[in-house]
Amino acid sequence: MSAEYKVHGDVAVITMNNPPVNGLGHATRLGLTDGLAKANADASVKSIVITGAGKAFSGGADIKEFGTPKALAEPNLLSVIIAVENSAKPVVAAIHSVCMGGGLELALGCHYRIAAPGTNVALPEVKLGLIPGAGGTQRLPRVLGVETALNMIVSGEPVKSELLAQQPGQKLFDKMASSPESLAEEALAFARSVADVRPLPLVRNLPSKHPLGDAYFQFARNMVKGMAKGLPAPEKCVDAVESSTLKKFDDGMAYEREIFTALMFTPESRALRHLFMAERAASKIADVPEDTPQREIKQVAVIGAGTMGGGITMNFLSAGIPVKMLEMKQEALDKGIATIRKNYEAQVKKGKLKQDKYEKTMSLLTTTLDYNDLKDADLVIEAVFEEMGVKQKVFEKLDEVMKPGAILASNTSTLDVNKIASFTKRPQDVVGLHFFSPANVMKLLEVVRGAKTGKDVMATVMAVAKKIRKTAVVSGVCDGFIGNRMIEQYSRQAGFLLDEGATPQQVDKAIEKFGFAMGPFRMGDLAGNDIGWAIRKRRATERADMKYSRTADKLCELGRFGQKTGAGWYDYKEGKRDAIPSELVNKMIEDHRKELGITPRKISDEEIVQRLVFALVNEGAHILEDGIASKAGDIDMVYITGYGFPFSRGGPMLYADQVGLFNVAQAMKRFQKNPRDDANFWEPAPLLAKLVAEGKTFNG
Ligand code: NAI
Repeated sequence: MSAEYKVHGDVAVITMNNPPVNGLGHATRLGLTDGLAKANADASVKSIVITGAGKAFSGGADIKEFGTPKALAEPNLLSVIIAVENSAKPVVAAIHSVCMGGGLELALGCHYRIAAPGTNVALPEVKLGLIPGAGGTQRLPRVLGVETALNMIVSGEPVKSELLAQQPGQKLFDKMASSPESLAEEALAFARSVADVRPLPLVRNLPSKHPLGDAYFQFARNMVKGMAKGLPAPEKCVDAVESSTLKKFDDGMAYEREIFTALMFTPESRALRHLFMAERAASKIADVPEDTPQREIKQVAVIGAGTMGGGITMNFLSAGIPVKMLEMKQEALDKGIATIRKNYEAQVKKGKLKQDKYEKTMSLLTTTLDYNDLKDADLVIEAVFEEMGVKQKVFEKLDEVMKPGAILASNTSTLDVNKIASFTKRPQDVVGLHFFSPANVMKLLEVVRGAKTGKDVMATVMAVAKKIRKTAVVSGVCDGFIGNRMIEQYSRQAGFLLDEGATPQQVDKAIEKFGFAMGPFRMGDLAGNDIGWAIRKRRATERADMKYSRTADKLCELGRFGQKTGAGWYDYKEGKRDAIPSELVNKMIEDHRKELGITPRKISDEEIVQRLVFALVNEGAHILEDGIASKAGDIDMVYITGYGFPFSRGGPMLYADQVGLFNVAQAMKRFQKNPRDDANFWEPAPLLAKLVAEGKTFNG
């Protein structure tokens, strides 16, 4: 049982002990009910304290039990809370550090609550597409008032205990401890002070009401609808909290449970729960145990102060890690620093960064033109031009000057990391760190593991990624790694759709309606269409057999590189980013069709979405098969954090699972028959075909 039972004089103390955050797993729940029974049976015990060991009171449900029968096994959380309410002796929750989800619901079932300052209090279920399911929506409004409770439930964000304690009329905390250190002692004293109080107070007996009644909930519903991005849970939070004001307590509880159960089966909740787990799983590497020794990273060097070098540098500076930046010329360094300053100053202007913090952050940055100045760095990240010859010179130089044990990383987006490693005599120290642009903003970091990259290097860079607040996903070495290898297939489909009869705006609209932040053509205009053009030209010989629409090349031949040239797939008014459909581009596409002898056809939005998304899925399946990604969840994380895939759909692989892999494969077979498309590509990947045959899914 993951709870300890101890008697201190006339007070029994039940301490949940299930690291790291005392998740309310089955063993913890058993420990709680067992402790309550013991305390009630012991005549010398007059009152009971429930608290948590270590770094939390309780963080709520135990994620290790998610989706397993143990999660629902009796005593479930509702039964534990009923046992607490029914205790004949007063039960005091002694809350500290973290009190969230089921942990807060348990505390709300207790007769009294004493809290340490600095405790993070939250009902975060909405972040998993759910509502609280063990009375949170019914009890929190009774102790904090409808508005504060609803704000907490709809946002899922933590609020500090001392702030909640200041709220007039609040009944959440009966007492605030003077400090976290004195909580245990003060809880014992408080428990003794209420030992003889009868009847025992219960939150369920308090009223829940809002002076404006209906009108308030109507207003709340409108507000929430605007922010919910198509997710059902936030509006359901309003329904549940409203029911606390309209129904008897037990009826409200039944209503909450009904909503909770229904939400559990929505694709949106499935997607959010999947991403929650996938994010945690992405940081683990099967053959790199968690206790793998790590190298110490105290000083970082960045080579190249261009678009990526500057953004990469900011990540480390913001995390308090000193950076030395190297360039070929002083002007390039000056330009790089000016951009970094401009970015930080924008944050200061918006009030997101304090002036003194900004200055302190900038003081961590030094620059040089001399490689010898880098020799003490623990990690060096190269972000120079994307040419193998240039990379070779840089890595040979690094091999010469860097101290033994330094990690040598490349931010290359297409080049072979194994080849780059071979330019050094220490391939075990070389790794790819593929940041995404703008590197100071984008969450995703593809960690490219070379054939010889050391396990300690992998363990170290994964930890560094966490420190600079990136979502790191491990990729094997291949052209484009996980994300760009897949996006190439997506872009190819977008091009074919133009050839066959769609317009850029129709394609963009359809996929944006599906939930993508931006369609492929608006995205191309933002990133610069010349980047893909250069890659296609470079590959013209090595991948000559690859079929693709020539419309993108023709666009670039017209000098329409996108927003930076004021024209791309769309027209742009000077200084503006609004994409205006372009007659010239649409005519160019029509002429191109004529050249190919294609009669345009009407293409449905459904076909557009399927061809773009299933292209990602099929390439994703090949990537899994090739061992470039080790799990489907990693691919989903890449697409959610780096490519604007709608998070309510959980990433391309989970989306395919939810559509049904049989249906996905059937659609691919249909696309194979399209003479304009690439029939070879649409052959379902062997892994996909195997999963269909076995009735399985990518995500188990
Ligand atoms: P950029 O052209 O903006 O910057 C490159 C910088 O490297 C320039 O300031 C240049 O003076 C400097 N440089 C070139 N050779 C050098 C050398 N031998 N020693 C020192 N400095 C040198 O290029 P960008 O966009 O920052 O790309 C850099 C790398 O990052 C490339 O490998 C690129 O593929 C990769 N990348 C680019 C992304 C993007 O969206 N721009 C996204 C992800 C990766």
